[in-house]
Amino acid sequence: PGKNGLNGERSFVMLKPDAVHRKMIGEIMNKLERRGFKLVATKYMKASRDLLQKHYADLSRKAFFKDLIDYMASGPVVPMVWEGLNVVQIVRTMLGETVPHKSAPGSLRGDLCVDVGRNIIHASDSVTSARKEIELWFHPAEVTSWKPCSIEWI
Ligand code: TYD
Repeated sequence: PGKNGLNGERSFVMLKPDAVHRKMIGEIMNKLERRGFKLVATKYMKASRDLLQKHYADLSRKAFFKDLIDYMASGPVVPMVWEGLNVVQIVRTMLGETVPHKSAPGSLRGDLCVDVGRNIIHASDSVTSARKEIELWFHPAEVTSWKPCSIEWI
């Protein structure tokens, strides 16, 4: 880590259609910002089935795959890239477990959802998958980091 405590690690995080419908975008982004992470890319979009199938390619043989793609394609999503020290592991911990009933209160899924098929948020499970997911969802020009500076904004 550098002397500002950052190691430049990035995670791909995505708010799922239920989080958008339930008006939780601000609340979830606020928690990630307040934990100490920096938003370096985001957009609001309806993802194509093709993109979602690529994103979840590892799960394509699972019985729940079609339901998962139907759900993810049912409304807009908010893909994001977050940057900060150990962001991949820390955001996974903030999420709770895949299954909401195993997610501790205080975690995002433990506080905000009850159904594995409607579990509000995705986050990369390793630095390697973060790299792949960021490349899948964003053009390099859409990702912009910044450093603290001395300009007085107000
Ligand atoms: P997975 O990558 O295993 O979990 P996570 O999102 O915690 O990384 O699964 C991807 C998504 O697939 C998961 O968020 C919800 C859905 N899913 C089901 O609908 N049923 C299941 O039994 C599992 C394991 C996942």
